[in-house]
Amino acid sequence: MPRVRTRHIAICAFIVLWIYYFLPRDEALTYVHNYGHRGSHGSAVALARYMNDYPPHITATQSSFDWSSVNFTYPPRLTPKLPAPFTKRPRIQHNFKRDSRPVAAVQEQRRIEVKRVFRKSWTSYRSQAWMKDALKPISGEYVDQFSGWAATLVDSLDTLWMMGMRDDFYEAVEAVATIDFGKSTAPSVNTFETCIRYLGGLLAAYDLSGHEVLKTKAIEIGDLLYAGFNTKNGMPVDFMNFEDAKKGGGLTVEGQVVSASPGTITLEFSRLSQITGDGKYYAAVAHLMDVFHQGQHDTELPGMWPMYVSMSEKDVVTGHQFSIGGNADSLYEYLPKAHALLGSVDPSSKMYEIMSRAFMDTAMNNLFFAPMTPGSEDILISGNVDVLADGPTLDPESEHLSCFIGGLYALGGRLFNSDEYLDTGAKLARGCAYAYKSFPTGIMPERYNMVLCPGPDRRIPCTWDEVRYAEEAAKRSQYKSDLPKGFTTAKDPRYLLRPEAIESVFILWRITGDPVWRETAWEMFQAVANATDTQYANAAIMDVNVVGSRQEDYMESFWMAETLKYFYLCFADTELISLDDFVLNTEAHPFRLSRG
Ligand SMILES: *[C@@H]1O[C@H](CO)[C@@H](O)[C@H](O)[C@H]1NC(C)=O
Ligand SMILES: *[C@@H]1O[C@H](CO)[C@@H](O)[C@H](O)[C@H]1NC(C)=O
Repeated sequence: MPRVRTRHIAICAFIVLWIYYFLPRDEALTYVHNYGHRGSHGSAVALARYMNDYPPHITATQSSFDWSSVNFTYPPRLTPKLPAPFTKRPRIQHNFKRDSRPVAAVQEQRRIEVKRVFRKSWTSYRSQAWMKDALKPISGEYVDQFSGWAATLVDSLDTLWMMGMRDDFYEAVEAVATIDFGKSTAPSVNTFETCIRYLGGLLAAYDLSGHEVLKTKAIEIGDLLYAGFNTKNGMPVDFMNFEDAKKGGGLTVEGQVVSASPGTITLEFSRLSQITGDGKYYAAVAHLMDVFHQGQHDTELPGMWPMYVSMSEKDVVTGHQFSIGGNADSLYEYLPKAHALLGSVDPSSKMYEIMSRAFMDTAMNNLFFAPMTPGSEDILISGNVDVLADGPTLDPESEHLSCFIGGLYALGGRLFNSDEYLDTGAKLARGCAYAYKSFPTGIMPERYNMVLCPGPDRRIPCTWDEVRYAEEAAKRSQYKSDLPKGFTTAKDPRYLLRPEAIESVFILWRITGDPVWRETAWEMFQAVANATDTQYANAAIMDVNVVGSRQEDYMESFWMAETLKYFYLCFADTELISLDDFVLNTEAHPFRLSRG
């Protein structure tokens, strides 16, 4: 054989080996794993993959009912008009420098590890529960609890995209194209869950990939939700009778709902108006939010709204319980975020900044406290306020759902140029991280109590007082003993795979650039991945105070939509979903910020 040929062969062999060894392993494996699975042969995605011609040509199958054809008895008003794009946003993210090589290598390992855990859950969903709302992670069975429109699939689309799982992403888009929003597995549809998971998931996947199928399906589900505004007073229903809604005769608004339900539509509807150019969604939600705006200072705790409100009476002021936790949470979350999306130049969107500043000051002065801890930590926890005859009383009870608030204050600090908000946000996020670290599993409970620091300003840390701690714990001894010092109850000791704590850690990392947040994220990830691991995926656990706790056959779609996404983004390139380009909805779905 001539010498030249030999050399050619050697070079070719070298190149083949190089590709084999140096192509990122997880990308190569995705390819191998997917090929020949789950009947995607002969589909547009399989063809696109074979021809390497992305994006694939997929067309949406129209749902069996056209929600845009509903003849409204009470058509919502079409003003105010959608504001022009927000042009002068302040910078949100830290100005990151490139990591040194050893540091970058560590983060890369972590990123790949998070992706490995995600892939395991996704693969099991794909093989065991495809097109169902959720996988049961221990039995490998499935459950349809959100109308049966493949909640986990829709909720996971943008995570697949971010993790670079392109084949899986388009395979899922092909499945989305066939979802029938004209049928529901349940007679009534929960508007809140449908809005944040389905509409939010489709909008974000569209914003990232630009695939038209996602926009078409977002409009279908958006029009379904819009039919929930077909009510006498223009306020949306909380649960929508599916067949009644189609007829258009008008729906009856509930007398009492949790405030988060009507308060968590603004981002999805505003973004839908932005991408379609149809302002009707924005106008409908503007009237709803104006009710909150009008009532904000007439409540028992001016600046905040009670946990329950009446949309039938447009009453958002009667009630004495105040919290930023479950039931209320995303009402508050969406105010600064709506400002980030819409700006404040237009009179109709100005109210989001006004409401944001007011609630942030009220919550800071009334709900947040430094807990008494053995190390006198400089942290904050968000409690609940009950306003009775003798004024507001702060109950030092908190919950995992409240942990989003640290990130939100940090974001508010940047949006409204306030170091006080930012500093408060960091202390709140550290409070949740402290709670994680305190328990033997390294995970915080769903609901717990601590002890208030005494003094006129409850936000100042105090010294440990063993006697007082014992007294406070004894008062609540009906709940489990032998808790970590500082905690007087773990009222609900479960961990349900929730994202709020890592969500705040992620936002603090992106805003401050302090590497300590990445370390915190990694400790949390290891603890969570370890305690929740099952044969198929990851499961809720029964007791964070017990290493090796029993698990529950339960994995909500937010595990892949939010929790793993936030973990991943802590270790990924800081320009991936930059907070200067996106605002995330309450289900961690990023909406693109339009630029003027
Ligand atoms: C609404 O009214 C139009 C015109 O009368 C009709 O064609 C259409 O079928 C109606 N839509 C529904 C959902 O009934
Ligand atoms: C969980 O943690 C234990 C103890 O630290 C360790 O031995 C085990 O390998 C971990 N398991 C997983 C799945 O990470």
